Amino acid sequence: MTSPAPTRTLRIAMNGITGRMGYRQHLVRSILPIRDAGGVTLEDGTKVQVEPILIGRNESKIRELAALHGVEHWTTDLDGAIADPSVDIVFDASMTSLRAKTLTKAMEAGKHVYTEKPTAETLAEAVELARLREETGVTAGVVHDKLYLPGLVKLRRLVDEGFFGRILSLRGEFGYWVFEGEHQAAQRPSWNYRAQDGGGMTTDMFCHWNYVLEGILGKVTTVSAQTATHIPTRWDENGDAYDATADDAAYGIFGIETPDGDPVVAQINSSWAVRVYRDELVEFQVDGTHGSAVAGLNKCVAQQRAHTPKPVWNPDLPVTESFREQWMEVPANADLDNGFKLQWEEFLRDVVAGREHRFDLLSAARGVQLAELGLQSSAEGRRLDVPEISL
Ligand SMILES: NC(=O)c1ccc[n+]([C@@H]2O[C@H](COP(=O)([O-])OP(=O)(O)OC[C@H]3O[C@@H](n4cnc5c(N)ncnc54)[C@H](O)[C@@H]3O)[C@@H](O)[C@H]2O)c1
Repeated sequence: MTSPAPTRTLRIAMNGITGRMGYRQHLVRSILPIRDAGGVTLEDGTKVQVEPILIGRNESKIRELAALHGVEHWTTDLDGAIADPSVDIVFDASMTSLRAKTLTKAMEAGKHVYTEKPTAETLAEAVELARLREETGVTAGVVHDKLYLPGLVKLRRLVDEGFFGRILSLRGEFGYWVFEGEHQAAQRPSWNYRAQDGGGMTTDMFCHWNYVLEGILGKVTTVSAQTATHIPTRWDENGDAYDATADDAAYGIFGIETPDGDPVVAQINSSWAVRVYRDELVEFQVDGTHGSAVAGLNKCVAQQRAHTPKPVWNPDLPVTESFREQWMEVPANADLDNGFKLQWEEFLRDVVAGREHRFDLLSAARGVQLAELGLQSSAEGRRLDVPEISL
């Protein structure tokens, strides 16, 4: 059976697509496969096609990228693309420090917006963006990619099915060794390690942890964090040494309230100065009275109360059981596609339906708030409450 011809084409101005995230996840893994599949299928079975317009500062680079991927439209004029009446959606994956300005202009021009996180460098700016969305009524989506990871989809299913009983705690480990750049090139951009350019582990990751905790457990009510700059000097893309002014690790403890009003303690370590002794680059363990589970990007394993061993502490004896083997893998039971692409498809359906996207600028503002409070908690050496944001 042939699929129906698209009834409409959405023109998407894509800014920051020469960057790591913009190019790989958004252009190559999401928008181009959607385009090449003839568009996204809507709830009524009809299709909507996408037409990317690539935006970049370097004309030859952007022209080359467009040619490489068979993209007809490209420009170096971001403001022109935002003002273009034929453009439906403005997407931004550029540097964090430039984002609020771009999103503001786009929404003021009546465009729907889809953006990488964090949406702004300060809570005040992030809230302003959420307010502007309310005023303009456009559809706005913010990348919440971790919730679409197969591992976390399985973990969320266990929560929904009541597998855990009463949930007690979550512990997360995230990070890997990012080379300093002196002898081996760093595998992340240098601005990530400069506070003045919007870098920093807390700013980068606490906005993810906010929606992960909200999406799996409940709302975050308190934060206590200790940040560190373990590596004070790094080498940039030109091989020049620079001062790493931003934090490269953040150790956070979060108070959570579940929808039933139960308290849960969550603890997440995030570090660019850690070597991996785990199965995946991020792992979350949830413990409950009836069972526990450990989820990574892809895999999720679980252990029920009935299968819980009863270890006895005896430092005089070698370990006699293999604890890892006592867990059972949770099956996907579905075809779980790339998370960035899945969220793009959901967002595009929301744009066509003229409705809000579930991961919006207000959710993103809560993420920026958690990052800001995390930095404040560390600077002041105390636990802070997370106040509710109202628009
Ligand atoms: N969702 C995630 O898991 C995830 C992961 C990493 C980064 N991010 C976010 O994505 C965004 C981009 O991060 P990245 O790692 O791809 O960075 P990157 O440095 O690889 O890319 C940045 C992009 O911005 C452009 N840019 C840089 N300086 C500019 C300037 N002065 N004017 C205009 N454009 C400029 C670059 O050309 C490039 O296209 C950041 O906001 C970051 O927080 C999200």
